[in-house]
Amino acid sequence: MSDHHELLRNLEDFLVKAMAEIGNCKSSADIENLRVRFLGKKGVLTSEFLKKLGGLDSEIRPVIGSKTNEVKDKIQEAFSQKLLSMKGEEDRLFEESLWVDITIPGSRREIGFEHLVKKTQKEMEDLFISMGYEVKHGPEIEDVFYAFEALNTPEWHPARDSQDSFYIESGKILLRPHTSPVQIRTMESIKPPLAIVSPGKVYRSDYDATHLPMFHQFEGLLVDRDINVSHLKGTLEYFVSSIFKKEMTIRLRPSFFPFTEPSFEVDLMWEDKYGGYKWLEVLGAGLVDPNVFKAVGYDPEIWSGFAFGVGIERITMLKYGLTDIRDLIRGDLRFIRQ
Ligand code: PHE
Repeated sequence: MSDHHELLRNLEDFLVKAMAEIGNCKSSADIENLRVRFLGKKGVLTSEFLKKLGGLDSEIRPVIGSKTNEVKDKIQEAFSQKLLSMKGEEDRLFEESLWVDITIPGSRREIGFEHLVKKTQKEMEDLFISMGYEVKHGPEIEDVFYAFEALNTPEWHPARDSQDSFYIESGKILLRPHTSPVQIRTMESIKPPLAIVSPGKVYRSDYDATHLPMFHQFEGLLVDRDINVSHLKGTLEYFVSSIFKKEMTIRLRPSFFPFTEPSFEVDLMWEDKYGGYKWLEVLGAGLVDPNVFKAVGYDPEIWSGFAFGVGIERITMLKYGLTDIRDLIRGDLRFIRQ
């Protein structure tokens, strides 16, 4: 008799507990797990109640049996209800996640612009390409042999002071202070006659309104028979007149570079904004020194040539009327947008 009552109580307890747990389900997966636990083949209902029916007295069995079925039906019904509302909620969330407000304006990508220095560099390249020059590139991390020695600038040479700057390996490897090493690399790899230009980054320990520790140079080298200063001057005149889009006057002022002889600073006659004229120094140049030809195995009795090196930032500043070279690298949008 007490067995009978206990079983009924247990069934009631089980029903209450099951209802509570079903109510707490958070997803249809939760419901499925719970369903297996409660009503599955090895579930609570079977193992705790149905299996015990066989051992009960024949008068009690139908009572407990029908009560058990009632509990089972209630639980099943609760599962179905919960599943239905859960599915509705899940479908709603899913649909919500797919919803797109087509009235929101699209995100726009701002179109950038080419950096002025790169733009000038390309213009210079195109110009020289149109004159039959080839564009060559060299490494920014350079060996002293190419940076100095082969350029007739031995260790003790005072010209090295201003350019001896960022060493990677003391006395051997450095960030190149000029693009002139590309002259050597080119002549080592091809036979004359040749005409090349070489744009690229160079490094020096300078930083002020007119100098950057990293800037761009544009090297030119032409090697042929019977090259003289008038070839150099004519080429440079054509270069500046094309770049500044008007007839320009230049002058060659005697100077010194270890790898050219004679050497020149090249000045440009520049009209300022008040209509006055002044000479502006824009580049270094000269005829290739015979020692440089010897260093690369060219016969200086047969071959002659000119070389020049010009700062691309310098040309860019003149072209666009800039007064502070640092504006080119500050990234100030007001400057960039102008
Ligand atoms: N390399 C020199 C410099 O950086 C410029 C130069 C190049 C001069 C070629 C003469 C010939 O100052």
